[in-house]
Parts: sequence; C-alpha cells; structure tokens
Amino acid sequence: MGKYVGIDLGTTFSVVSYIDAKGNPVLIENDQGGYTTPSVVLFNGDEILVGAAAKEQSTRNPQNYESFVKRHMAERDYKFTTKEGESYNPEEVSSLILKKLKKNAEDKLGEPVDGAVITVPAYFGDSHRQATKDAAKLAGIKVLDIINEPTAAAIAFGVSKEIDKVQHVMIYDFGGGTFDTSVLEIDSDNIRVIATNGDHNLGGYDIDKALVEYVCGKAEQKKLDIRSNKKAMQKLWLAAEKAKITLSASKSAQIYLEFGDNEFLLDITREEFEELIDGTLDITMSIVQQTLDDVNLDYSNMDKILLVGGTTRIPRVREMIEEEAGFAPSSEVHPDEAVAIGAAYHAVDVAKKIASGEVQNDSVAVDRGAEALPDLDKNYTFQDVTSHGVGIVIYNDVLEKEVNSIILKKNTPIPAEVTNNEYSTMKPYQSSFTLQITQGEKEDLDYVTIIGEADIKLQPRENLVPIGFTISCDSSAIIHVRAMDLDAGVNLGEVTINREKHNMTEAQMESASLKVNQLDIG
Ligand SMILES: Nc1ncnc2c1ncn2[C@@H]1O[C@H](COP(=O)(O)OP(=O)(O)OP(=O)(O)O)[C@@H](O)[C@H]1O
Ligand SMILES: [Mg+2]
Repeated sequence: MGKYVGIDLGTTFSVVSYIDAKGNPVLIENDQGGYTTPSVVLFNGDEILVGAAAKEQSTRNPQNYESFVKRHMAERDYKFTTKEGESYNPEEVSSLILKKLKKNAEDKLGEPVDGAVITVPAYFGDSHRQATKDAAKLAGIKVLDIINEPTAAAIAFGVSKEIDKVQHVMIYDFGGGTFDTSVLEIDSDNIRVIATNGDHNLGGYDIDKALVEYVCGKAEQKKLDIRSNKKAMQKLWLAAEKAKITLSASKSAQIYLEFGDNEFLLDITREEFEELIDGTLDITMSIVQQTLDDVNLDYSNMDKILLVGGTTRIPRVREMIEEEAGFAPSSEVHPDEAVAIGAAYHAVDVAKKIASGEVQNDSVAVDRGAEALPDLDKNYTFQDVTSHGVGIVIYNDVLEKEVNSIILKKNTPIPAEVTNNEYSTMKPYQSSFTLQITQGEKEDLDYVTIIGEADIKLQPRENLVPIGFTISCDSSAIIHVRAMDLDAGVNLGEVTINREKHNMTEAQMESASLKVNQLDIG
C-alpha cells in the first residue's frame, strides 16, 4: 500500500504534498528539513546532488551545475554537458529532480509513492506536457494526471474556504521561471477555468538576471570583469537572488563578491531595484489584461486576485496589481505551497476514480478499494481550458501560401473534442499527405509551433477527397487527432502524432532510462 502525492515541479523550487487519512494536506519535508527543494542538480563525480546541497556547492563546480532546466523542456537541441563530457537532455535532468523528490517522499512516508499528479504552467503547450510526462516515466513515477499550476492553487483555495456563492477569482502566479494567470469561477464544489494565459519564460529568473546584469555593469565601471569568471558568476547569481529577497523586506541590500584577488561591494536600494524590474512587471500586467479581454471581463468582475508563486512576495508586484485593479490582491493561499496541495487533493480524487473504474489510466493500478483512500471534506470537480489554439497547416488558395487553420480554439473547456469537415485533398489521385499539427493563435505560420506530424494514406480517386479532422485534448491537455475520409465514409483512424521534433522517441526513452537508472542520487 502506498501514497498518492501532488508534485509542484517548479523551475526553481519543487514541493511534494499528500493528503493524510483525516483528509488534511501535509507537505513532505525534504532531507534538509525544508518543504521546498531547489530544482537543481550538481554532477559531482559519481554522486549526483539534487536540491539545497547542490545549490550550496554550486560555486565550487559551476560547470557541473544545472538549474532552471524546466525552461528547456522539450528543446531537442538543448543539452547540459558536464566538464567530464557527459550530456543530459532536459527530460533526463528533470527526471533526476523527480527521482530525488520521490526517494525523499518514500523515505519520509515509509511507503512507496504509487502515483502522482504533477503540475505544469498553464501556458505549457502539448510538447512541454509530454516532456514532463517523459521525465516522470524516466524517474519511475506513475503519472495520475498533469494539471495546471494555477488550477491546482485554486483547488487548494476552494477546499480550504467556505464559499457560499459563485466567485470570480483571478490567479496571478509569478514563480521562478514562469508567469501564469487564470480566471476562474469557483462555487462550493466546482471550479471552472474561464481563461488562461501566460509566458513560460518570465519569472524570478529574469529578475535575478536583471540584477546580475546591473552588478556586472557596475563592476565594469570599476574595471572589474565578473562575466568571464564562471565561479564568480555563479556566486553572483546566488548573491543576486539573496539581495532580491532582502529587498522584499528591507529598503536596501548589499551584494558582496570575492573572486580571485578582487572584491566588489554594491549597495542597491529598493527604488533602484524597482526601476530594473518595472518592465518585467509591466509584461505580467499586460498578460493579465489580455486574459480579461479574451473573455470580455475586467477587474471589476473579479471578487479576488490570489497571489501564488515566490515572486509575488516583491512589494512592487502587489502595488502594481492594486494600481491596475483598484483593489488589493489577496494572500489567502500560501504562495509556495498551494500548488502542491491542490495537486495532492487531485491525486486522491483521481486515485479514487481509478479504483472505482470511473477513470482509466494505463500506467497506474489502484489495487485497493476507493474507501481505503482518505475522505476529503469537499470533493471538487474542476474543469480547465486549453491554453493555446490547436489546428493544422493547410494551403490557402487566396493567399497562395500555407497557413494555420485553427480547429480547437484557445480557452475551450477540456477535455474537448472538435471536428471540422471542411478540408480536402489538393489534387486528383492523391494517395497520401503529411498532416502538420499546429499550436498557436495566428494564421501566419511564423507565429505558430508545429507540435507534430503524421503521414496519412488514403485510397486515390479522381475527385478531390473531402477530409474531416477531429482534434481532441485530454484532461492533461495532451492532443490527439483523428482523420476521416468523408467521400468513402472511412475513418482513417486515430492519427499517431510524430512528436520527434520536440519530444523523445521511444528508442531515446529506452536508452535514457538505462542511463538515468545507473546514476546514484545522493
Ligand atoms: N521574498 C521574496 N522576494 C522576492 N522573490 C522571492 C522571494 N522569495 C522567493 N522568491 C523568488 O521566487 C521564485 C520561486 O518561486 P516559486 O517557488 O513559486 O517558483 P517555481 O515554482 O520554482 O517556478 P515556476 O512556477 O515558475 O516553475 C524564485 O525566483 C525566488 O527567488
Ligand atoms: Mg511554481
């Protein structure tokens, strides 16, 4: 008998939670006594360090230190290479973090982790979600579901509060690597996401980076070159993050660096800091505005703006939201913990549904009665939405070029399935075509990502063959495609999307699994 957990796999910190027998959420302490584990890896000879120990020792061996890997998920050309010449792709590095989280949880709980709900930024696309699933598989974690971070935070909020009437809640989730915002409708037992938006390359990392650049510039004025010294740069990144955190509580901070025979000391005030980051904060506010515009709402329709993510501790973030919204945001959920707790509630819910046969999940077997799982005070149903439009590449005769034709629109409630029967082959006797699946809101292919391809064969005919496509999005927001030959009335079947451009192939997964399993994680 094991446990089902919720994992908030963050860009900078990860948190694991479970629901105890009484139905209460419990955060799982890591081996350093903390609840947040830095999502970083240090390849230290035969030993692999993950978490605070890796971060602490990073300045000694910066070349073998990997951080912010979540930003590179599903980038096939990204490799982290150690100074010994070993390379790891982002899914492999992420799997080492997940392995450590799993090991830690099992040590603390004294029982195996039988399944997990893993959260991802709402704005993650199909390939990023698939890459997260692949990392979990490499780590030996059975995935119950992948859900969006802001939605998980909303579940934690909904379960913990008495809600007697429908509320419109906005989640403003500003973490270490990503910014997400969702607008939700919450009542006593339902959560419905109405709209979501974000930027998965905007977070505390960018604020640290702005400070790092600022310090390097100031040092250059004194003829000190920090940039070309790897160890000094790693020290500076850590010092910048510390100074940033100090500036959330205090009006000024100091950054002190010793490197080689040099020392460098810089005082920075909160005002100077705010000037550095105002542009970044403005971007988050325009994303929020866009999210509201997408569904014809404005701030006055919101009952609450809930802050989630460590970066929302910056006082200027709160001020800016208050200036725009006309009311102060709320800190009713814990910015570091809510996402993992919401995921843990959902893990129990999914495990119960698997146990009762209501939900099928090939990778997780729940071999005990639903009654053995903890009773929850409230059983929330929730519905999320697609964070991107999904379509196919077609040839547009008028424009005389290939364009994106969206079939499944952004902000459609999921699971979703949409069919469009208005397509056809391009020439007589065509026996096959390559279907390209797109993700993005624009017609222009320059602004669209091709998430996968599929070769489709059909019976050649003299006439152009009308084709229908059905695009569906499952509860984890993974995309599936079906094609139909409308002339012959033949279902061309579930299309196997070839995701090789962004995701690992089966053969790569097999060799990665061998490689990762040989590594000893300290
Ligand atoms: N008091 C503070 N003031 C400013 N920033 C802070 C403070 N505390 C934490 N942070 C920053 O918050 C970020 C971590 O937040 P969080 O743990 O929510 O992110 P994450 O879950 O790792 O990332 P993501 O959700 O983007 O994948 C880091 O950049 C950290 O430096
Ligand atoms: Mg987060």
